[in-house]
Amino acid sequence: MYTDSFNTQLVRKNTGAIKYDRIKTDFGTENILPMWVADMDIPVPPFIMEAIQTRCQHPILGYTLIPERWYQSILNWLAQRYQWEVQKQEIGFLPGIVSGIALAIQCFSKPGDRILIQSPVYPPFRYLPKANGRELVENSLVYRNNQFEIDFEDFEEKAASGCRMFILCSPHNPGGRVWSKEALERMLAICAAHDICVVSDEIHADLTLPGHQHHPAAMVETSDCALITLMAPSKTFNIPGLNSSFYVIQNESVRTQFDRFLQNLSLNHGNLFAYEATVAAYEQGAVWLEELTRYLQTNIDYVVAFLKAHIPQITCSIPQASFLIWLDCRNLGMNQKELETFFIHEAGLGLNTGTSFGPEGYGFMRLNIGCPIETLQLAMSQLKSAIKQVKTDQ
Ligand SMILES: Cc1ncc(COP(=O)(O)O)c(C=O)c1O
Repeated sequence: MYTDSFNTQLVRKNTGAIKYDRIKTDFGTENILPMWVADMDIPVPPFIMEAIQTRCQHPILGYTLIPERWYQSILNWLAQRYQWEVQKQEIGFLPGIVSGIALAIQCFSKPGDRILIQSPVYPPFRYLPKANGRELVENSLVYRNNQFEIDFEDFEEKAASGCRMFILCSPHNPGGRVWSKEALERMLAICAAHDICVVSDEIHADLTLPGHQHHPAAMVETSDCALITLMAPSKTFNIPGLNSSFYVIQNESVRTQFDRFLQNLSLNHGNLFAYEATVAAYEQGAVWLEELTRYLQTNIDYVVAFLKAHIPQITCSIPQASFLIWLDCRNLGMNQKELETFFIHEAGLGLNTGTSFGPEGYGFMRLNIGCPIETLQLAMSQLKSAIKQVKTDQ
């Protein structure tokens, strides 16, 4: 029903899209196919656009109450997708997940406190603790058989070294790892034992791919620690420009502390387009999302097969969620700068460089496959031609 729309080529240049309108600044040339920033080149579902257009028919966009349907649509979505029963008072609006992480850091830790993350990871996990005067503690993930795994011994050791907070990325970016229930239980039990507050960023959860199951951290049996879950329709329905996210906190005293903190910053309310879009997404979005995840899976399968057949020097993660592929380019024998130059100037592709996710990303690049298959085919053929050049040069 919606798949045809996923194939539509849309011009995003001059819309203010970071992915397109910051190319020159970030890559030094206009001449690349952008496959970086994590939004999709796929149109927002029609029912969300209609909801926004309908609201725009009223000529006043005044101060707006958070609609009851905003709460109910989220509660129903969580119950249906994750069998997670949440109460209305346990959720609240946030302008974004990154803002939510920064706010949680300020609310639940003090300057100088140690904050644990698992690298390589989405860059704000690395810079926000430091930017807020906290000490970053890293539990490096192990990359084995094209998949990230947790070194639990190291996790426990780091957790026990006086960490006050753990910022969990679940599913994980980059690489699209969906953590098993057992892995989550183990991490949360360790955090509970050391009185560590857990911030669980679950922005990619809805994009869990066919055959995999996301487990909200809050549903894990051992989640007996202070736990703040951050979720959003933004990544799922390609609406991050609307600044629409929410938190779930089920522990009453933790919630009261965070609610007060947000109130004191006058941040306990959203914007009306975010409300409209969230309600439309969660009330009507299940079928669209099912088609989208199938489409993303086809794109992933295409990249995996293409690399195997034509570019065996590069291997990749097999994402279990979302539209981001972690390319292992270590066999090319280039240092990171050479790798970046190769992708930009030889392949004509704009990807995220691996080291922006942490030093463990050395030799890796992150590819965004949330686009029409035709775009991906073009990108892969550009990469193939560039690689041939490398071989003949050597
Ligand atoms: C793990 C993760 N958290 C948060 C974000 C961004 O969230 P927001 O735009 O709501 O700040 C991203 C975007 O790529 C992400 O991958």
